[in-house]
Amino acid sequence: MLIDSFGRCIDYLRVSVTDRCNYRCFYCMPRTGVRFAAAADLLTSEELARLIRLFAELGVHRVRLTGGEPLVRRDLAGLAAMIGRLPDIVDLSLSTNGQLLARHAHALKQAGVTRVNISLDSLDPKVFARIACGGDLRAVLRGIEAALDAGMAPVKLNMVVMRGINDQEIETMLEFAVAHGVDLRYIETMPVGPQAADGMAHHYPAALILERLRRHAGAELVPAKGGRGAGPARYYQIGSGPVRVGVISAVSRHFCAGCNRVRLTASGELVLCLGHNDRVSLREALRGGCSDETLKTMIRAAVMNKPERHDFQKTGGEIVAIPMSALGG
Ligand code: GTP
Ligand code: 5AD
Ligand code: SF4
Repeated sequence: MLIDSFGRCIDYLRVSVTDRCNYRCFYCMPRTGVRFAAAADLLTSEELARLIRLFAELGVHRVRLTGGEPLVRRDLAGLAAMIGRLPDIVDLSLSTNGQLLARHAHALKQAGVTRVNISLDSLDPKVFARIACGGDLRAVLRGIEAALDAGMAPVKLNMVVMRGINDQEIETMLEFAVAHGVDLRYIETMPVGPQAADGMAHHYPAALILERLRRHAGAELVPAKGGRGAGPARYYQIGSGPVRVGVISAVSRHFCAGCNRVRLTASGELVLCLGHNDRVSLREALRGGCSDETLKTMIRAAVMNKPERHDFQKTGGEIVAIPMSALGG
């Protein structure tokens, strides 16, 4: 088992398979001037799969493929298949903006990706394009259908709620999720990377989101059976219906005490917390011929240095140097 110095069990690895994205959501990725990793530093699928196997041997059971936008990586289904074959990985999931999902959903499901989280910040094409600096809402909606059709379950929608941008759609989005039988999470903007201030200028606290949901759904909105689960969201359900609605209060009510995750970037850096710069590069050791045992020792030592919590409220987040798009949320 991978245990950190605060006694937290780390069994979830988020793997950013690329730092590139076909969108430019303004709260996540700068429009210009992004410094992408050098091609030579990007890990191959075989290198990623080896590291993930070592994490699995150390006690990681869940892997999420994220980005940038993971589907812009050409060999994603091949990588997913390699991870899917690891006996200790019981949960392989994907976070995507959905733009290319319709094309790949079935192959990914076949490769072992059983569930997917899809960003959907707006159902209004103009608002959608304003947030993503482009993007194609219809393609994303087709992606959602394709994920359902491929049998991915659950399909969760992620809406980053922003005052003055898309907060007028909180209720509409709930109706959309119920109509399509998908889960929905409302997310507070987090101040990460160079876009920290842009996102936080529109911060919409989770407590207000919940107030709006209560007003809209009334007594029907009840805490979900099964509680919190392994992720950051607090879930509710509408009556006894199947749809779960989550609120991710990353800033106003952090969930660091129960944190179960670390992140691996596309260039082989192990990032210990979304809110801190602490990271350890595994790339040189991996490419320098280190044994599995040496790499595992490095991973164990790094996890012991995982920070206790983020300090978003204190620092405003600017301390995190790399864009959220390279960390994958
Ligand atoms: P599951 O619960 O496993 O479905 O995934 P998830 O909700 O952790 O993944 P997803 O990629 O959909 O992320 C949803 C939101 O949660 C994004 O805004 C992430 O940045 C945020 N998030 C995920 N993990 C953490 C974390 O460890 N700390 C903080 N502060 N936010 C996180
Ligand atoms: N704050 C909160 N969520 C964010 N995401 C990207 N940047 C931020 C941010 N600054 C979300 C994306 C995606 C998920 C993986 O992370 O919208 O749904
Ligand atoms: Fe791309 Fe996702 Fe960041 Fe938007 S939030 S720019 S879709 S990585």
